[in-house]
Amino acid sequence: MGINLRGRSLLTLKDFTAFEINYLLELAEDLKRKKKMGIKGELLKGKNIALLFEKPSTRTRCAFTVACIDEGAHPEYLGKDDIQLGNKESVEDTARVLGRLFDGIQFRGFKQETVEKLAKYSGVPVWNGLTDLYHPTQVLADFLTIKEKFGRLKGIRFVYLGDGRNNMANSLMIGASKMGMDFVIAAPKSLWPEEALIEECKLFAKESKGSVTITENIEEATAGADVIYTDVWCSMGEEDKAEERIRLLKPYQVNSSLMKKTGKDETIFMHCLPAVKGNEVTEEVFESPQSVVFDEAENRMHTIKAVMVSTLS
Ligand code: CP
Ligand code: NVA
Repeated sequence: MGINLRGRSLLTLKDFTAFEINYLLELAEDLKRKKKMGIKGELLKGKNIALLFEKPSTRTRCAFTVACIDEGAHPEYLGKDDIQLGNKESVEDTARVLGRLFDGIQFRGFKQETVEKLAKYSGVPVWNGLTDLYHPTQVLADFLTIKEKFGRLKGIRFVYLGDGRNNMANSLMIGASKMGMDFVIAAPKSLWPEEALIEECKLFAKESKGSVTITENIEEATAGADVIYTDVWCSMGEEDKAEERIRLLKPYQVNSSLMKKTGKDETIFMHCLPAVKGNEVTEEVFESPQSVVFDEAENRMHTIKAVMVSTLS
């Protein structure tokens, strides 16, 4: 069956079917293979890409930049002090200007509403490079990494521990439930995802024959896990919550004794990075052979390239 994503935006993985997500992962595998063989492409030749950042970034910014250059596009970085986004000029007007000049727009920032408005008003594909609510391109990189390690996504027991209501937890829950994984969040009740999103993901899981479980019970959650995933306890913009989060989340730290609770030697450790070692993960687990965090980081580039190529050409 053919697939055509041309003109589509990626604002949240909710908008993509399992079939489309699989297609993006397969395209990323192919682009990765070509890059490793030294084959340069021209799949984005002549395209101009705006990279809007309200929040800082290492991986996302560099992944978009390198992916553009690899395929012949021109990336233009626009930081928060460089343009008038929602400041002296409305998001709607900025979007219409950028849409006249650029072929695609990446946005990283605070409100999901901003990335949605950019998509609505620019008329070109817009890709969410992280908002307070979602981080969909990270999930594609994580899923490519899991496929590389286990050869499949279906039936993988994916356990996320820590802040269960941040952009990563939300997006992983959406992606995993669509792809037929057994997805578990272990977090204190006050940090569980929104009930409406849980219910939506349970419907995705019903269709994919996966499952979604949210629990406070660390033992039950980790038993049999193929993937142990965590993220920072304070996301960008929440730095003032550090004290409370450390108190709440200390039991959910990923350390070697927690890794042993999976009962499997082949369990992998994942983290979107950047990590605060000593908080959500110990240095020991981070540096262990089970840790695949730098594979995830590299795969940001291959998957982002797949997103741009498939939506622009
Ligand atoms: N994982 C991730 O999005 O990293 P950056 O914040 O460095 O882009
Ligand atoms: N939850 C983290 C992810 C960083 C990639 C944050 O929003 O800061």
